[in-house]
Amino acid sequence: MRAIHVGLCGVGTVGGGTAAVLKRNAEEIARRAGRPIKIIIAANRDLDRAREMCGPDVEIVSDALKVVNHPDVDIVVELIGGTTIAKELVLKAIANGKHVVTANKKLIAEYGNEIFERAQEKGVTVAFEAAVAGGIPVIKALREGLTANRIEWIAGIINGTSNFILTEMRDKGLAFADVLAEAQRLGYAEADPTFDIEGHDAGHKLTIMSAIAFGIPVQFDKAYLEGISKLDAADIKYAGELGYRIKLLGVTRRRENGIELRVAPTLIPHKRLIANVDGVMNAVLVKGDAVGATMYYGPGAGAEPTASAVIADLVDVTRLATADPENRVPHLAFQPSALANLPI
Ligand code: HSE
Repeated sequence: MRAIHVGLCGVGTVGGGTAAVLKRNAEEIARRAGRPIKIIIAANRDLDRAREMCGPDVEIVSDALKVVNHPDVDIVVELIGGTTIAKELVLKAIANGKHVVTANKKLIAEYGNEIFERAQEKGVTVAFEAAVAGGIPVIKALREGLTANRIEWIAGIINGTSNFILTEMRDKGLAFADVLAEAQRLGYAEADPTFDIEGHDAGHKLTIMSAIAFGIPVQFDKAYLEGISKLDAADIKYAGELGYRIKLLGVTRRRENGIELRVAPTLIPHKRLIANVDGVMNAVLVKGDAVGATMYYGPGAGAEPTASAVIADLVDVTRLATADPENRVPHLAFQPSALANLPI
């Protein structure tokens, strides 16, 4: 069977990681997907970097529209981020009948309802495992592993940059700004790191998990967001003396009048498992009525951990695209038209 053809928009940290892992593990990935997965075209501002990361067989362009309009591309991978060009590209790709894989949490959390409606109309898949908690397959856990459950709540450390900052401040006594600069250097932080430290990034991820867990549309604008920028070394020190750790926690749960969505620095007793999730690691706790409390732990940011999630989606979408359409199970995260718009 011919290879499935991927068009890559953005060859930054995650795009570079995706190209590298696809190449390195090509054989295993092809076996698991049922056919080879090949990047045939990639768009990036820095053409030399794209050439270096993708290799000589891949057409390199500067205009990402060429990727989404390419007649031979089956799946568009959007790794540009933001919601202006990225939204335009994703909607265009869907309109062109292409499946989409994205790591863009802001795009899905803010425009997911519109995007999924368009995808549903066109019968294509939009997959976004990499948008939440980096390499941890938590979207799959919610959608597949826990599908028998009525979810009661989700709580998680879902911003690696904030967790890295809080950990380094506590353990090494480093200043906030210095640790943030290091997180940027390591490729953990968002292009605008305010998103990390003010709770927006965690809010985006929480919104997406909440939509899947509770079967509601994405409603990021209803989330309460408080970041870590007002914390200083003394807060962390005194919390420690009282037997607590401060973590930026995202919580979503059923309430009498709707679904709560909240991101805020939280004191957690230091013996709790989640209080010991340090550095760039993320952890997500999910309570289901049948399974009880479960916890998912792993790297929440970085090139190859996030690429691992992007490629998991590529394999999934390849299997779906290859299956007999009569027997295909739709892969949409949620179907806005069929959902109640619960107040939050
Ligand atoms: N800036 C994000 C974080 C990257 O620090 O968690 C992964 O989504």
